[in-house]
Parts: sequence; structure tokens; C-alpha cells
Amino acid sequence: MSASNTPQYVIAIDQGTTSTRAIVFDHDGSVVSVGQKEHEQIMPQAGHVEHDAVQIWQNVQEVIGTALGRGDVTDRNIAAIGITNQRETTVVWDRHTGVPVYNAIVWQDTRTQAMVDRLAEDGGADRFKAITGLPLTSYFSASKIAWILDNVEGARARAEAGDLLFGTTDCWVLWNLTGGADGGVHLTDVTNASRTLLMDLTTLAWRDDLLAAFNIPRSMMPEIRSSSEVYGEAEYSSLLRGTPIAGILGDQQAATFGQAAFGPGESKNTYGTGCFLMFQTGEEIVHSANGLITTVGYKLGDGPTHYALEGSIAVAGSLIQWLRDQLGLIHSASEVEKLARSVPDNGGIYVVPAFSGLFAPYWRPDARGAIVGLTRYSNRGHFARAALEAVAFQTRDVLDAVNADVSASGGVPLTELRVDGGMVANEMLMQFQADVLGVPVVRPVVAETTALGAAYAAGLAVGFWSGLEELRANWREDHRWSPSLAADERDRQLRLWRKAVTKSMDWID
Ligand code: G3P
Repeated sequence: MSASNTPQYVIAIDQGTTSTRAIVFDHDGSVVSVGQKEHEQIMPQAGHVEHDAVQIWQNVQEVIGTALGRGDVTDRNIAAIGITNQRETTVVWDRHTGVPVYNAIVWQDTRTQAMVDRLAEDGGADRFKAITGLPLTSYFSASKIAWILDNVEGARARAEAGDLLFGTTDCWVLWNLTGGADGGVHLTDVTNASRTLLMDLTTLAWRDDLLAAFNIPRSMMPEIRSSSEVYGEAEYSSLLRGTPIAGILGDQQAATFGQAAFGPGESKNTYGTGCFLMFQTGEEIVHSANGLITTVGYKLGDGPTHYALEGSIAVAGSLIQWLRDQLGLIHSASEVEKLARSVPDNGGIYVVPAFSGLFAPYWRPDARGAIVGLTRYSNRGHFARAALEAVAFQTRDVLDAVNADVSASGGVPLTELRVDGGMVANEMLMQFQADVLGVPVVRPVVAETTALGAAYAAGLAVGFWSGLEELRANWREDHRWSPSLAADERDRQLRLWRKAVTKSMDWID
């Protein structure tokens, strides 16, 4: 085989909340080429957030084309395709035509709050937690599927006739990549399935009682597979035709895998649209007493299932987008650091971005965004600074929950935090994060850990990488921020932050 035909690369498709990317990695786990495209955020009314699934599929094809066209990357030297995705976001489509019956309902969408409240009347919000690891909230897919079946004309009858399919966006992309209505494979991986409120964490199967509670026909549900195996081959066009699709991980699990955080006690925090701290607990299912959720971390082929605790924060990068798009305070997201640096401190302002209520560790759907501490002195710089600080304070709250759970089980609290995601380019945020945590914050050389994790899962399945030790050797430290804030000042700021959090609660009339 000539060099150009020897597979030298793995491509990962990262179908995220705000954009879709295709990233090509080499054997060292270095980025070789990238294609990226944003999609529209459709917000028809307060609490509703939708995506056009057809636009997302078009963007997937476009970004693959972009990534393949760069350098010496061609469709002939790609060993495998991995998929990673915004989790929970729900697509329902017609299996015969491939046409979605409704826009994708995004994980941040809270329209199903009344439905989950009704279900919680019988057994409380933790009713399904022992089985699924999850509290009953509008965040997870189940109530979103039910909403579509209940509100789109004719959808329930079509679903009951077996004509409709459900999938999170990994599943939607895979089905289309493998041929769509002409034989596309309908499956998802264990990590994504663990975010639906419909899967049993122990058996890794859909539960009939949970499907019945949400009134969802089983025929809509994808098959559940491991995170690393050959699911099928790309069929959708001449690009990548015949290339195996061999890895799927929800984006936070993918980032954890891409950080080489494979074993119990290893963790990472990803600063994307939201912010998600994952802590691996190994083959043991650990239930949190401090507001974390239990989720599947990964499962490689026939290997054991690895579980994780997760602190999910709904709003991080999307707060900066909000400053840009809704308030017009900045023109581009990268301007926020400069603006925040224009002032020496937050001027006493605290921003609690409870746009979808508060997720971990509070789980308060009734919370709403709050800005407190305003004075006549407050300016745009203070505002930008308080927004960045909010991301770090939320992470501190989640880290405290992780440490409380870990200590209760006799373990050792985290001594440093591995970070990744778009916002880790923001030096000021990272320094403040270390200050407010009181432990070092560490960024790897390849901060594209989400796509890398999916590439790793796919590459392992086809023998492109030999095993986890080889992947661990690829991880290299780029930068370390050490805490430098005096403890009493840190505690003062934390006290004010927590006071601000209480102000954001119980706002709804
Ligand atoms: O659970 C939602 C999460 O998967 C979204 O991730 O990267 O789009 O913030 P991200």
C-alpha cells in the first residue's frame, strides 16, 4: 500500500450545542485539520431552545468536506470515524423519509417542566434516580420525546405504528451517515443512552416501566451499543464511503476520555456552552449525596462498563454569547477577556446565569438569572468580569460536591483539575478558577479533548491505537495555573457568590 493509502488519521465529528466540527487527528493525538460551522439557535419563546436537525446534518457534511480538503488529508487515509455530540438533545424523525417531525429540542429547553413536575408528584424528583442515576428534570431526553409525541399533530399515531425514530444527535448523524432512509443504522452508545432517563444503569437496556411512565413506544428507541466498536460504514456520499464508524461518546464523556482520565478518581472539567465536571468511579455505580448525577463514563466493546459522577452546569460559554448576542456588550466572544481586564475586580457584581434554572448541585428549575450588587459605579468591565467569575464559582460549587462525595466514601479530594473546552483559552478565567478552587488548574496541549476522545474510541476499535496506555502517553501538559488568592479573600467572594445564588431561587411567581 502506498503511504497515502495507509490510514494515518482518524476523523471525529463533534456535533455540539452551538456548532458542528470535524477534526482530523494523527497517531499522536495532534490536530491535523478542522472544519467548523455554527447552526442557528431557535428560541421561539422563553424556555424553548431548538435546533434544525436538517441544518445540523447539512453542516456535518460540510465540515467533513472542509476537514478532508486540508493538507494531505483525504478520504483514503482515514482509518475510522468517531462521533461525539451535545447530549440529551432530542430528534424524532420518520424512518421512511428521514424528515424530522419537529425541530430538535435542545438539552437547555425547559418546556417540559410541568410534565416532570406531574411525574414527581408520585415519588418525588428522585423517583427514577436509583435506576437511571438521574433526577427527574426537563434536562434529559425522555420528557422531550413525550412532548413531541403529545404536541406534533399525528406524531403519536405514527410513532405507535412504528414509523418514527428517536435519537440524540449522535444517533441522528450516524443514521444519516450510514445511508439514512436507505438502510441507516439506528443505534446509540451507552453514554448517550444514560442521559435519557430511560436506561437502566446496571443492565444498559431500556426499561419498559420508564418508557411507560413517559408513554414512549419502544419501537422508536435505538439499539444501545458500546462506545467503541464498528457500528457500520459511511454510505452517505463519495466522501468517506466505506470508512468504519467505530466510536460514539456523549461530548462530556468524550472529553474525559480525550483527557486520558480513564480510571477511578480521574476527572476533568469542560468549559463549553455549559460546563461539565466528570469524575470517574470505575466499574462501581456511585450515587451522590450532594447533587451530582451518575452516568456511564464509557464502555469499550465487550469490556466492562465504567461509570462516572457528573456535575452539570447549564450555562458557561453561553453566558458570554448572551453578552454578545442579547446585550450587545461585546462584538465577539474573545473580547470578553480584554473587557474584564479593564477593571481590577468585579466591582461587587455577581451574575447567577440560571437561564434554564440551576443544574448541579442545586437542581432548582425555578431559579432564574440574577445580577446583584449593582451600583452607579458598575460598568461594562465589571459585568464582563462577573460573567467570567460566575463560570468559575459554579465550578467551585460542583467541585465541593465531588469532594464531599469522595470524602464520604473514604477517598481523597481532588488535588488538581484538568480543564478543556473553548473557554480554557481565557487566561484570566483559568487563573480565577485556580484561585477560587484553591487547587491548580491544568490544561493539556491538545485542548480539543472532546473530539479527541471520540477519535480515540473509534481508533481503538479498528486497531489504530493499541490500548489505553498508548493514549495516556499522548497526554501532555501545556499550562498550569496555581492558586494565588489569599484564603480569606477567596472565602469572602465565595460567601457573596452563594448569597447571590440564593437570590436567584424562588423567583417564579
Ligand atoms: O449535556 C449537555 C452537553 O452535552 C452539552 O455540551 O459542549 O455543548 O456545552 P456543550
